[in-house]
Amino acid sequence: MTQRIAEHNKDRDQQLAEIRKSLGSNSIVLIGLMGAGKTAVGRRLAACLDLPFTDADCEIEAAAGQSIKEIFAEHGEAYFRTGERKVIARLLENGPQVLATGGGAYMDPDTRAAIKEHGTSIWLKANLRVLMKRVGRRENRPLLQVDNPEAVMKKLMAERNPVYARADITVESREVPHEVMVGNIVDALSAQLADGGA
Ligand code: S3P
Repeated sequence: MTQRIAEHNKDRDQQLAEIRKSLGSNSIVLIGLMGAGKTAVGRRLAACLDLPFTDADCEIEAAAGQSIKEIFAEHGEAYFRTGERKVIARLLENGPQVLATGGGAYMDPDTRAAIKEHGTSIWLKANLRVLMKRVGRRENRPLLQVDNPEAVMKKLMAERNPVYARADITVESREVPHEVMVGNIVDALSAQLADGGA
């Protein structure tokens, strides 16, 4: 038993080393809707791969000196999207890293192209129930500060899922411990490597 665990860990370490090597200066970029777990899972994935973790929304807030809520309220969504595009383009120059993006980022064609050029995209795909449970009552997401946030989420799923589906890898985001999600992502990255993609 102990030997089996030791072998498993050796396999895992080897998998992680191969993934790190294959990245070069590219990034692993997490995409998907609000509540998909991009930040929570991304942070743990980065730790596991011994890579820096970057949260695009935090970097946008730092660059603007304002919270996302304030940016939307004072300048509107279009202004936020312009900043988001610029910040993500800059962050992608700093790989290797695990980069979590805000839910709307991948809808921008320039951002999609930049991610393709500098990274491997991973869509964390969750169903409506999981997303709504996770976004809860927090007030930090301006798009959901409406009477019927579930209707907005449904609309965003219909608009965005076909675009998210263009990601290099899709991993189902389920109600399992974050470590399980990290394991699923590592396996998916390894499988992609074995297929010859990177
Ligand atoms: C948005 C998602 C948010 C944030 C902003 C807009 C979106 O990020 O960028 O509120 O358009 O889906 P998270 O997906 O990290 O919540």
